[in-house]
Amino acid sequence: MSKEKLIPRHIAIIMDGNGRWARMRGKERSEGHIAGMDALRETVRNVAQAGVKYLTVYAFSTENWGRPQAEVDALMELICKGVEMESAELVKVGIKVKTIGDRSRFSDKVKASLEKIEQLTQAGENMTFALALNYSSRSEITTAVRNLAERVAQGEIKAEDIDESMISSALYTSFMPDPDLIIRTSGECRLSNFLMWQASYSEFYFTPTLWPDFDKEELERALEVYSTRDRRYGLVK
Ligand code: IPE
Ligand code: IPE
Ligand code: MG
Repeated sequence: MSKEKLIPRHIAIIMDGNGRWARMRGKERSEGHIAGMDALRETVRNVAQAGVKYLTVYAFSTENWGRPQAEVDALMELICKGVEMESAELVKVGIKVKTIGDRSRFSDKVKASLEKIEQLTQAGENMTFALALNYSSRSEITTAVRNLAERVAQGEIKAEDIDESMISSALYTSFMPDPDLIIRTSGECRLSNFLMWQASYSEFYFTPTLWPDFDKEELERALEVYSTRDRRYGLVK
């Protein structure tokens, strides 16, 4: 990649296609998720190496609880295993891990895992890596509206003081800039309840590649395409 290329500050990824990847190989869906975890490990390294400062990945949506219990259990297990296996390396390479979403629905074991990795990696300065877990954009916005309404009721703020930046600050993503680039794998071209407020001016990149096959070349292709986009923000240049 040439030096003068525009690198996004924040990339968000909808990691989709693990189930189809497994089915194509006659494997269980959970094996697809294990392969997806390998792709995620590589992608975190590659994105950080590209000089990106924030990476958000959609790992488990509020709707995903509706999947067969065995698959949900396998995903929860994978979250705990991932934390166990990756923490030391993430500390070493200076990556700070955060989560976005409502953690209250997770088991104590998963909650403890997530708290542990956030705590261990909190000094990381090279990149912030946000895992969207039990996340959906509508639930995030609903929670934010409820919190702001509560503050108005308490007399802390006035309704007329609520502006766009106050809403951004009330979202789970308050510690990050909006995503510059949103990537979705597996050929689906939808947001599936991901970062709807934050994506107002994001660039989108859809690829038919299934998430477990997303590698360094795929990332480079996405970055290449991003660097050719003309972000006008409604203005005339
Ligand atoms: C994405 O892959 C991972 C999660 C949603 C957890 P899928 O499991 O949605 O894979 P497909 O879309 O069924 O192929
Ligand atoms: C979106 O993928 C959620 C995650 C990647 C975690 P889904 O596979 O759940 O979304 P739909 O069902 O295709 O919209
Ligand atoms: Mg899917």
